[in-house]
Amino acid sequence: MTLHHPYDVLVIGSGAAGLTLALSLAKHARVAVLSKNKLTEGSTWHAQGGIAAVLDDQDSIDAHVADTLIAGAGLCHEDAVRFTVERSKSAIQWLIDQGVNFTKEQDSSDYHLTKEGGHSHRRIIHSADATGQAVHSTLIEQVQQQKNIDLFEHHIAVNLISQADVDSSRLRCTGAYVLDTKQDKVNVFQAKVVVLATGGASKVYLYSSNPDSASGDGIAMAWRAGCRIANMEFNQFHPTCLYHPNAKNFLITEALRGEGAYLRLPNGERFMTRFDERAELAPRDIVARAIDHEIKRLGCDCLYLDISHKSEEFISEHFPTVNARCLEFGIDITKQPIPVVPAAHYTCGGVLVDKKGHTDLLNLYAIGETSFTGLHGANRMASNSLLECIVYAQSAAENILSKLPSINSPDISPAWDASRVRNSDEDVVISHNWDELRRFMWDYVGIVRTHKRLERATHRIKLLQKEIAEYYSNYKVSSDLIELRNLATVAELIIRSAHERKESRGLHYSLDYPNKSPVARDTVLVPTNYAAQDVIVSKGRD
Ligand code: FAD
Ligand code: SIN
Repeated sequence: MTLHHPYDVLVIGSGAAGLTLALSLAKHARVAVLSKNKLTEGSTWHAQGGIAAVLDDQDSIDAHVADTLIAGAGLCHEDAVRFTVERSKSAIQWLIDQGVNFTKEQDSSDYHLTKEGGHSHRRIIHSADATGQAVHSTLIEQVQQQKNIDLFEHHIAVNLISQADVDSSRLRCTGAYVLDTKQDKVNVFQAKVVVLATGGASKVYLYSSNPDSASGDGIAMAWRAGCRIANMEFNQFHPTCLYHPNAKNFLITEALRGEGAYLRLPNGERFMTRFDERAELAPRDIVARAIDHEIKRLGCDCLYLDISHKSEEFISEHFPTVNARCLEFGIDITKQPIPVVPAAHYTCGGVLVDKKGHTDLLNLYAIGETSFTGLHGANRMASNSLLECIVYAQSAAENILSKLPSINSPDISPAWDASRVRNSDEDVVISHNWDELRRFMWDYVGIVRTHKRLERATHRIKLLQKEIAEYYSNYKVSSDLIELRNLATVAELIIRSAHERKESRGLHYSLDYPNKSPVARDTVLVPTNYAAQDVIVSKGRD
């Protein structure tokens, strides 16, 4: 039997965005939070550097706004930037009130603020170099104490459910089909409001700093449900991930450069001043491109990040996590440089929303990395992401609470139809396609793009999508198949968006169009079943 779980609000995702929203609703609404693995899975747990906020008297909202606009290469929506930055102080205070233990100055009650690329002031509040873990574990502790919040680990949303709304001529979102991966069963989660908080899509690339869960599920589900998706060509590559055959996805935080680390060539020479006067603290797109350029020019495997000129005490106090992890691989960062390469890190594009998190589909919201708010423009400034998660989650929660009393309970949705599918007999198809997709995205749609490479990628993604669609309609769904299908959708959206942008700006660099256009425009993809216009009743398994 299919289980129907009725809730006021269904939150898909248990990272900083999803948990902040759930906590902000908990006093007044029945909330379900889904996590496709454990609650701790997701990028939030892995965040290192910190959260950008205007906390110092010498700093100002105008300065933080100006820095964000510069990093965003002319494409940020200034109103979204100001909206976020103005709320930064109260967002941090809320986290402190929840119990997050941020690092303080030595022998002082003041918080220590560090610096990262693009910031003109020290404004990154942090918990040593494991800020994400400090924030996430605190939020998890808090949600676990709320009787109005039910937490569902190992539940992966497959598709959104929508119904025609009687009060308007539009579709409304009324829940999701969700695979319980422990029971191997798809259930219906019914809700008055659904919130996508599923994180980013950087796993679409072969090399990534992200956990495996970053497969763009929310973006793909929203697209299938008829929502517009914006600026998917802007994938941020973090300049410095640890280069070691056994180190999967380990980031070397930008705060190292903020505290004075140098980037070096294999011969020990510093090189960043050749690319930008801000040297190691130039915005990420510039640093990642410079590293990529030097690696290709010299034909070497990696470059080096060196903080060994700082004292051992300083390094172990500020960077205990990086220090310990590198030691596991035999690298003593107090004495030797760290081998680094760029890797896919952050999805600047996503589901198009307004300041309250509304998407194009009625009663569907999107927050956090899965959304596109206009804050990041063509290149996200370091540590603005966790800030965006908190600010937009709070804003969406406020809006949801004001609307909930007037939203009717949805009709019962049809059960998931698995009558025509059988067990997969060739899982190798999934792993093969997953590898192929991530490799060609890295090779053809990576840090430097060309028209020809994008053409190749278009050809490959069409073939893969055909194969995946066939597989999806014939076999039972599994989490690997769900993620592969979503990754393929996201890859298609990235390639299409990159094709549409006939210029180089921020994170999108094309050898065929090396200049920046005088006019900055977002790339907005509109699905054929655009939810803001059509009324199409969902058949569940689309
Ligand atoms: P996530 O934290 O990624 O959570 C996504 C959630 O959605 C997970 O619970 C996952 O299980 C769930 N989910 C996904 N799909 C489904 C599905 N289909 N069904 C059910 N559940 C689903 N930003 C900063 O501002 N400062 C930093 O210092 C910083 N450092 C970083 C370091 C690393 C290594 C990485 C990877 C990122 C870093 N970032 C940093 C970026 C930042 O961490 C993320 O953008 C942010 O945490 C995203 O939060 P989120 O809540 O949107 O998503
Ligand atoms: C880092 O610590 O370098 C990551 C910061 C970020 O992605 O915002």
